[in-house]
Parts: sequence; structure tokens; C-alpha cells
Amino acid sequence: ESNEFQKLLLSLPKERGAMNQPLNLYKGFWYRSHALESVMAFQRHFQAQDSDIILATAPKAGTTWLKSLVFAVTHRSQYRITGQNNLLLTTTPHEVVPFLEEIYNHNKSPDLTSTPSPRIFGTHVPYTMLPESVKASKCKIIYLFRNPKDIFVSMWHFGRMLPKDIPSLQPITIEESFERFCKGISLFGPCWDQALEYWKRSIEKPEEVLFLKYEELKEDINKQLKRIAEHLGCPFSYKEENAEVIEDIAKLCSFQHLSNLEVNKTGKDLFPQVENRAFFRKGLVGDWKSTLTPSMVETLDWMVEQKLHDSGLTL
Ligand code: A3P
Repeated sequence: ESNEFQKLLLSLPKERGAMNQPLNLYKGFWYRSHALESVMAFQRHFQAQDSDIILATAPKAGTTWLKSLVFAVTHRSQYRITGQNNLLLTTTPHEVVPFLEEIYNHNKSPDLTSTPSPRIFGTHVPYTMLPESVKASKCKIIYLFRNPKDIFVSMWHFGRMLPKDIPSLQPITIEESFERFCKGISLFGPCWDQALEYWKRSIEKPEEVLFLKYEELKEDINKQLKRIAEHLGCPFSYKEENAEVIEDIAKLCSFQHLSNLEVNKTGKDLFPQVENRAFFRKGLVGDWKSTLTPSMVETLDWMVEQKLHDSGLTL
């Protein structure tokens, strides 16, 4: 399996990406080599269960938020939302909802059968790269999109928060980084192509894929929490609505609340090089205004407009 992968890897086009990491182009998307190896492993070995929930996002689209929201929605009867024993108060969202890429990075065929259902996994892979067993099952998928200008700006600042001594991360100017991002050469990118795949699927098969936008979550979180709960087959009851369960989940998972929890402020629980607090920066819509020049805005807007044009997907 490993030899086969090395052979494949050698044959793939390579570029440095928007964060200056070496990336490989496979079936239209860009991957770190170890991530691609994990993706191949879970494509081959992951056995979906009908109760599984897959949270798919581009990096920096709001993955951390989505993970916390979905965990809170699905575990709302197990943990009192505001109760002391709620796992989200003491554990980072990325540990509560692990990435498939991470699980299979450590072990090429992990035993996930004893994980209590519903099993919830995060992933950054495009729809076409999900394991066949996911597509053939009744698994629920939730995709979260975000304005690519904010994705880029979030990614750029995220890069600044990483330690300077990671060999694969050499310094890069924002102009160079932006140029590569616009070409789609970023981790699991192009993010617009990824979004389009899930968008199309959400229209063809809405019971399988729910397509969310970061901006809509910010605008009306209660409404979007109801969509999430309905999609997952656990709609809020009148009793819950009256008891303000939805509001409590929104508060629990708000940027303000999560980013101030000790567990999210300190430590490096998930990735050895990334501090937990790097996943919480500003949590705003439109922060691109603070970082992009007018000409960058024009370039990226044009690019995204070209890509989304005929799809019906709007920002
Ligand atoms: P900004 O850098 O624009 O602040 P990901 O989780 O996919 O890595 O995305 C990180 C982005 O989501 C960051 O955006 C981060 O601040 C924001 N974020 C994290 N938690 C959030 C929350 N609870 N509510 C809203 N935004 C959140």
C-alpha cells in the first residue's frame, strides 16, 4: 500500500501553496502528501454507519464552530447544555469531533466500531473523495461554506500564528500567498471547486448534504441550528424551543464563549505545531476589509464570480 502510494505521489504535479507548504495535485485538488495518504487510507478502510455525521469544510471556513454546534445539537439530551459536565467546556471542538484525515494519519486502519453513535467526523476533502461507504449509506453530511475572501484572510493570519520553525512553512509575502490562493493552490483547494461539489450534491440529494454558509450562521444562528437539527433527524421540540435550548446551544458555541474557555486558550491538543487558540481569531464576517487591497478584492471577486456563475451558489 505504501509503495503504491509513493509511486502515485511521484507522478503528481507539485507546487508550493498559499501557506508555502509543498502540495500535490490529485484529481483537481491540492493536498499535503501525508494528508493525501490518510485520505487514501480512509477511502479504502472507512466503514460508514447510517448514523454517522460528516462535517465537511475548507480549512478556515469555520470548521471549529461547526464541530461544536453539531456536537452540542446531537448531545443535547446527554449533557445539560449549560451543565458543568458538558464536554465542550473542557475539550477542544477538534478533539470532540476529530478529522478523518487525522485519525487515519496515525493509524491506517483504526477500529472505530466502538465509537458511540452518532459518530461525528470532520473532513476537508471534496465530495468526490469521500469513501464509497459514506455515499452508499444514510450518513448525514453538513458542508460549511464561507466567503473565500474571509477564508484567505483567516488563513493568512493563521499562518502568522504558527511557529516560525516549521521547515515546510517558509516565509511568504501576502502578495505571493494571495496569488497562489487565487489559482486555487491552497490546502484542499480550490475552495470554490470544493464548495461547488457539495452544493451540487445538496441540490441533487438534500437529505444527504446540508449546505450552510458561515455568513448565514452569523446572521441568524437560531434559524441555522434548526436546519442542522432537522437535517440530522433530531428537530427541536416545542418544549425545547420554549426552554430556550436553541439559544443555549448558540451561546455555548459562540465565539465569545468558546474562545474564552481555558481549554481553547491554552495547549496544543490537536496538532503538535498549532496552539488551540489559533483556531479563534476574530470570528467576524467581512474582516477581509482589514487585510486585502482593493485590487486583491477585485481579483478574487472576479475569480469566484467566474467559478460560481452558473451554479446558483451565491456568496
Ligand atoms: P477568523 O480568522 O476570520 O477569525 P476553522 O475552524 O475552519 O479553522 O476556521 C477558523 C475561523 O473560524 C477563524 O476565523 C475563527 O476565528 C472562526 N471561528 C472559530 N470559532 C468560531 C465561533 N465559535 N464562531 C464564529 N467564528 C468562529
